[in-house]
Amino acid sequence: MNRRGFLGATLASAAAACGMLPKESAVAPSRVALADVRRLVVERADPIAGRCRYVADLGARRVPQPILFARRGESFDGVIENALPQPTTVHFHGLTLPEAADGAGFDPIEPGARKRVRFEVKNRSGLYWFHPHPHGFTGEQVYAGLTGLLVVTDEDDDALDAALALAPENRLALAIAEARVVGGAIRPYAPSVEDCLHGWLGNRALVNGQLDASWIVRPGWVRLQLLNACNARGLLLAFRDGETLVPFHLLGTDGGLLAAPRELERVFLYTGERVDIGIDLRGRRALVAVSLEFDPRHHTGGAAPRHRHAARERYAPLAAETVCESASGDGAQGRLADGAELALFSLRVDGTPMRTPPLPSRLSALPEPAARPEAPTRRLRLDFDERAGFLIDQTPYRADEIAFSVSRGAREIWEIKNSPISMPHPMHLHGFGFRVLRRQGTYGEARRLAAEPSGRLVTDLGVKDTVVLWPNETLWLAMDFTLPEEAAFRGTQRFMFHCHNLEHEDGMMMRNFSVI
Ligand code: C2O
Ligand code: CU
Ligand code: CU
Repeated sequence: MNRRGFLGATLASAAAACGMLPKESAVAPSRVALADVRRLVVERADPIAGRCRYVADLGARRVPQPILFARRGESFDGVIENALPQPTTVHFHGLTLPEAADGAGFDPIEPGARKRVRFEVKNRSGLYWFHPHPHGFTGEQVYAGLTGLLVVTDEDDDALDAALALAPENRLALAIAEARVVGGAIRPYAPSVEDCLHGWLGNRALVNGQLDASWIVRPGWVRLQLLNACNARGLLLAFRDGETLVPFHLLGTDGGLLAAPRELERVFLYTGERVDIGIDLRGRRALVAVSLEFDPRHHTGGAAPRHRHAARERYAPLAAETVCESASGDGAQGRLADGAELALFSLRVDGTPMRTPPLPSRLSALPEPAARPEAPTRRLRLDFDERAGFLIDQTPYRADEIAFSVSRGAREIWEIKNSPISMPHPMHLHGFGFRVLRRQGTYGEARRLAAEPSGRLVTDLGVKDTVVLWPNETLWLAMDFTLPEEAAFRGTQRFMFHCHNLEHEDGMMMRNFSVI
């Protein structure tokens, strides 16, 4: 059916669909072993509002929006099937994978096509995730609901759960996304010039696909592995019990557990980042997770362009967007300012109290990052161009260009500097976890939250794959480009380095590099 025919056929039910929230808001995800997935189908669940989902086909049953679990060392061998009307990929964010399995934008799967993908999970325990990465379509597809969680476990992870006497229902893996809800309906993706500049923002949190999400947990320790899966919104995460902020413990970051827990009251969680958190719920009835109000320090005004992708013209949007748009008109409707307070989800505490042993003082054998003086420094600049928008080294992304090559096994220091007239950019590196050595030129809330004289934040103390740079900041990162000695990793491997504000990524704030 062509696009006009499709619109005509669905117009009758459009009013109803625009007036209600999609069914996904009622469905809780279920756990699936990564190794059991035979087929991962990427499909559109609702053509009118354009909501999409992953479905894991296990042979005997099909599970929509699964939470995948894997033991370190386990493998995936399955077929990814694209049932969307647009090209897609499945990128496993945070995993060390050869180019063929990384799902970066190099090799998109066309509508109706499929691709076999095989890999082994080599990373430390932690929360990883998967999402589409076809250049120019990433923001639209992620916003449509295409976010999946992958929880990796190992001995350190087991030891922590045992030390906390954790009840199984007290361990949650949550993807915090958001939606633009107007008139009781989730609006489809239709970014304006302003959205392309600062990012596509919503006004309601969508946690594991649910609005007003709430979980019942038992009194005792609760362990939350949280992902910021929003397109662009930075979160200043905190937990409220009435008016008071409840202290919590940071246990881990993007790439697994810290060496030791750190007590906090609030923590920044930018798009693509993860935190592992422990909270003692003894004596509490309910907790609300919120993003506290903060100044996001958007220093950039003016008009950057709306990004044009030749490929986008060839495929239909996911939603029959014109149908819903006429109902509300104003494109900025449902856009809650970045940095505004936002309720995320709640925990209700109920049941027999659990034992609450003290937190272990050691969580893992993670060493302090070494600032090897012999390591060469690579300098990267994040800047803004009136005509092109946000860029890395003043160069708009080109799919066929390799910005630089790194020798396998190399150790480098990356010095990344953000412009003073900019905004926060959560920068993400494919394939390699890295360590933060130092921050300089930090102002505002991020400065106040510095954990040590080096300017590092608490989240900088763990293994990272995504790290936010505030305007005017310079960060020094310790990079290690060691790849596994396996056939799949031989030869030149291409990876990406980009901003995880998805409108910047679909814009031009991305570079390819290769490991040779
Ligand atoms: Cu989470 Cu290159 O992406
Ligand atoms: Cu990634
Ligand atoms: Cu950015």
